[in-house]
Parts: sequence; structure tokens; C-alpha cells
Amino acid sequence: MVSRVIPVDTFDLVIFGGTGDLSRRKILPGLFRRFVAGQIPNDARIVGAARAEMDDAGFRDFATAAIREFIGEAKRKDEDVQRFVEHLQYVAIDATGENGWPRLAELIRKDVIQAFYFSVAPFLFGDLAERLHRHGIATANSRIVVEKPFGRDLVSAHALNETLASHFTEHQIYRIDHYLGKETVQNLMAVRFANILFEPLWNARHVDHVQITVAETVGVGGRGAYYDKSGAIRDMVQNHMMQLLCLIAMEAPYRFDPDAVRDEKLKVIHALEPVGAEDIVRGQYRATKEAPGYITDSENPTSTTESYIAMKVNIANWRWKGTPFYLRTGKKLRARASEIAIVFKEVPHSIFGDAEGWRENVLTIRLQPNEGMNLTVMIKEPGPGGMRLTEVPLDMSFADALGEEGTDIPDAYERLIMDVIRGNQTLFMRGDEVEAAWRWTDPIIAGWEARGDKPKAYDAGSSGPEDALMLLHRDGRRWREIKE
Ligand code: BG6
Repeated sequence: MVSRVIPVDTFDLVIFGGTGDLSRRKILPGLFRRFVAGQIPNDARIVGAARAEMDDAGFRDFATAAIREFIGEAKRKDEDVQRFVEHLQYVAIDATGENGWPRLAELIRKDVIQAFYFSVAPFLFGDLAERLHRHGIATANSRIVVEKPFGRDLVSAHALNETLASHFTEHQIYRIDHYLGKETVQNLMAVRFANILFEPLWNARHVDHVQITVAETVGVGGRGAYYDKSGAIRDMVQNHMMQLLCLIAMEAPYRFDPDAVRDEKLKVIHALEPVGAEDIVRGQYRATKEAPGYITDSENPTSTTESYIAMKVNIANWRWKGTPFYLRTGKKLRARASEIAIVFKEVPHSIFGDAEGWRENVLTIRLQPNEGMNLTVMIKEPGPGGMRLTEVPLDMSFADALGEEGTDIPDAYERLIMDVIRGNQTLFMRGDEVEAAWRWTDPIIAGWEARGDKPKAYDAGSSGPEDALMLLHRDGRRWREIKE
């Protein structure tokens, strides 16, 4: 299968925070991969803008080092790196002062697509937006890209939305949730809305429950200061897990169009029931002989922040009433594995009586690693001796099914940055969506604070706290094993 590269019009992309961690790890390597794919127009410009004094050559060296660090040797030729960095320029700029702005104004063309990536702390968004206008740089056509965390509660998210809205229209604002840029996450939409097979079964009549798991092996070491103020609920649940839940639960949009898709997701968030304390388990990893605990990693000896969360979520609408969605995510778990499992109900009547071996059908969508899909079906166990049943997988890993293209999947950031240039907001969160997600999350956090809730300890490298098992056991269900 030949990978198709859809050309984009030329652009000027300014990365505020161009020398920061996100730029180094994701944005610059992502742009390089798009360059290698032939998608960066010859006269496109990428401008790093940050406080540090540096010249173009310095920024090009910075980008070269980042590409060498984050792109495997087999995927980068030195001459490509050299040609790519010729697109780069640098402006030393002061977000809260006037230094650098006139130079940026000279550099940025008015007659091409302009994108401004705010890879900086959210309190600077207002300053940047205001200066982009005052210096006559931004036009009605400019796009701005902002990153999570988008607020830490409804009030702060609303204030951020207001700040941005006083300078840009909603159609110019691209709020990144990088989970939406993942290949398999988009595949979820393709599976649901490009096949007739699943839709008749995709409801509370046929689905017993849904499990969404995002398990990580990494701890919070190195970013403890940020994480300790967020915890799993703000870091993963309010955004990434919520987006996954929406894509599984939403109705078919009338078209694959940004607002049509986002309208449907918003309806799901509105339909989420409040989650009571009995339906949430919080955990915090503790040290083992092999690994330090959260307390050490976060450098906060009295921290009560959760590094793990499991919860039962109910959706109050016709499609889903009665089918719980169980969500779990955590750091320092036994394996890195993210998947969505749709667990179907029993057949209404077994003609085989109590035939041995019967298991429910499960459709699993693996987000990472080994992206793919798996559907378990029951067949007769081969051989004589009566009717015994056995479960077999209809397994499709993208790598097997699609060859090189199945393994060479673009990183979420590559796709999302190019969508910004194309002006396609489908995979970005709208302001009202973010606020609705906080409106649902805030009371959960307020409940913990009011009760002085403390997370349950789990061993680093385990499957999470024991209590999380109970969340399903008491409903007669069990979590799927976390394995790569
Ligand atoms: C980020 C979180 O948004 O997503 C991190 O802040 C988390 O804590 C990361 O590790 C997970 O992303 P991915 O793409 O590695 O699954």
C-alpha cells in the first residue's frame, strides 16, 4: 500500500516556546517527519520564538539535536536534516515585553497561512494574543494552537477561553488533545461509522459494559511539580479518557465535519451522570525494592495526589442507559497498554445448554502498543466428543494487515500540526467541550477535597490498587489483564 501525502499550502509557523520540551520532543521531530514525507512546501517557514538569546544557527543546531535524539537512525538521513533545518529561523522574544516583536512582524508573511503554536504556560496566552494583534502580525486568517492543561477547573478554563476569544474567533483556535491525533483513535470512528456490522449492536441492549484502559509504565519522575498539582484526573481523565469515551459513545455525526463531530461529543459529556465516591478508586504507587515510589518521584512527602484512577461512569441517554463504562489509567503499572474493550452480552438463550467454554464476544481496539483490533468469537472446539465451545480471535494488527504503512504510523503531533495548516478542526477540542468536561470533573475533585480522601497504595510495577478490582467484582465483572 502506498502512503498518500496530501499537499498543503505554504505557511509560516511560529512556535512560541520553541526551545522548550514539547518543541524538542514532539513538534520539531514531527515537522521533520512531515518534511521527509514531502509535505512541507519549499518556502514554508518555521520560526522558533522564545526568551533565550539565540540566532538562527543556534536554533537549527537545537532542532538537529532534537531530531537526532527522537527520530531513529534508520528514519533520518543527515542531508534531510540539513535541508529541513533550512526552513527554521529564530526570534528571541519577550512574551510580556516588547523585545523581539518588531522582528517577528517583519518576518511573518501576511499572504500565507499563519499558525502560532503557544507552547508556553497558559498565563502567557493573553499576552501573546494581544501582542500578535498590536504588532499587526495576526490576521483574520491566523490560527493559534494551544496545549493542555487547558485550565485546572471550570473557572480557569472559562477564563482562558474568554482571553483567547477576545483576540481570536473559535474557528481560529486549535486546542490540542494529542489522543485525538492517534491513528487508532481515529480508527475508532472509521470502525463505527464506515461499517454496518457494529452499529446495530452498539447500545445498551447488546453491550454489557465498556472498559477503557490507559496503562503506563513510566512514573512522574522529572515532572513531579506539574503532576502533583494535577493527578490522574486532571492529567488524563478530564481530557484523553473523556475523548475516548466520547468517540465510543457518541451518535453518528451527519458528516465528518468539525462542528458536527464536536456537537455529538458534547452531547455525550452532557449526558454523563455524576460519579459518586463509591464508584471511584484512587491509587498512588509506592516504592518496591526495584523502584522508587510516587512520594520520591514527586518530591512531595505528604502528597495525596493520585497516580492511578479507576471509575465507573454511567451515561444517561437512550443508547447507553444501563451499560457502564469503566475507565482506568495509571502510572508505574506492570505494562504499557492502552485499549478499549467493548464487552458484549450473553446470547439470549443457549441452545447448547451449559456448553463448556462459553465466553462473551469482545471487540478490542488497541491504541498502543501494537495498534490493531481484535474480535473474539465462539466456535466449536474441533474434534469429536460432542459440542464444546472455544473462543478464537479475529485478530488484526495494523502492522500485519497494512505492512510497512501499518507500523510507520505518524505521531499524533505530526497529524495535528498538518491539520492546523489545512484548517481542519475535527480533531481539536472546542471551547464548550473543554468546559463541559470540567463541569463534570470539578465535583469529583471537590468531593475528595471535602472528605480529605487519600489514595490507596499500589506497588510500582503492579496492576494498580486491589480496590480497583472490587469496582468490577461487585458488578459481577472483571478487568481485562494489562499486558503489552
Ligand atoms: C500526557 C500526560 O498528556 O499524556 C502524560 O500529561 C501522559 O502524563 C501522556 O504520560 C500519555 O501520552 P501517550 O501518547 O504516551 O499515551
